[in-house]
Parts: sequence; structure tokens; C-alpha cells
Amino acid sequence: MYWTQKHVLVCTASHCAQKGSNDLIGRLRLEIVRKKLDAEILVNNCGTIDLCDIGPNVVIYPDNVILSGVTAKDVPALVRYLRGEGDPPGEMTGFDTPAEEARRALYLAALTCGEYCATERFIGLAGEHGFDEPWIDEQAKRGFIARKPDPASGEPSFVVTKKAVDRYRLRQPVESGS
Ligand code: FES
Repeated sequence: MYWTQKHVLVCTASHCAQKGSNDLIGRLRLEIVRKKLDAEILVNNCGTIDLCDIGPNVVIYPDNVILSGVTAKDVPALVRYLRGEGDPPGEMTGFDTPAEEARRALYLAALTCGEYCATERFIGLAGEHGFDEPWIDEQAKRGFIARKPDPASGEPSFVVTKKAVDRYRLRQPVESGS
């Protein structure tokens, strides 16, 4: 463990890698060394953080934020941000940012259906929260929802999984910024 001021984790799992995250981390590491910032800023790669639809993703501690859609061309802006000298590149995601709020709101709405939310109903709720069917497929692949028939009616349904419940703290009081 290095007691650096910032710890940067660049997702290099398959979806982010397909969108250039290996190039991003390579250029970022070079730039950090070139600017002699490696004693202050540690850069590591990491596995998926399950925001695959909006990657490449970069997690920054202790800021507790995720920057999404960051590519190698953003490295100068990213380094400036890490030095506290500019705005972050990409889309910033935190616990309270709109994209995460929208996901949390959708899952909360789906839970009001009961354990099983009929497919058509779930698709309608997703649409109301700004999400389309490819996004639903992606969330199912990532394990935030599961397609299961409702045992009572046999109707195709979605179940909000424990993974989503835990990540979005759907059954606990929500505290911001943590
Ligand atoms: S592959 Fe990077 S968040 Fe999933």
C-alpha cells in the first residue's frame, strides 16, 4: 500500500477495454510519471464496477467519484483534475448524481410491484426513468435484475436482485455522499 493522496482505479474489464481503457491507463501512467506525480497519485487497473454501459470508468479515491466515458484523449484533463486544477473529464458519477439517482428510483419503483415485476410493467417503469430495452438487457447481464417467471401467474417478470438492493441501498436509509 502506498500512502498517496489519490488512488485511481481504471476499469480494464472487457466492456471498458473494448472502449479503450487499456490505452487510457497506459497513457495516464506515462503522464503521471512524466509529470513526477507518481508519489502523489497511484494508478491501478481494476475489474468491472458494473457501470459497463457508460465506460470506460475511472474510480477516484478519496474523492469517492467515478468518471465515465473517459478515453486516452482525456488524460491531460484527468491529470489536471487529479491535481485539483480543473474540471473532470467525462461524466461524474457519485452516490447522488442523476444517473445513479435514476437507477435507484427505477429499482425502488420496481420493488413496489412486489418480488416479481411483470416484464411489460418493468419496461414501462424503465422508460419512465429514461432507460431503454438495451439498457435493461445490460442490467440483466450485469446481474442487477433477473428474468424470472412469476410463480403465481407464470407471467414473464423481472426480479430486482440482491446485488441491486445492496448497491443502491434499497432497503436501508439512504445517506448521501458515503
Ligand atoms: S467493464 Fe468496466 S464497468 Fe464493466
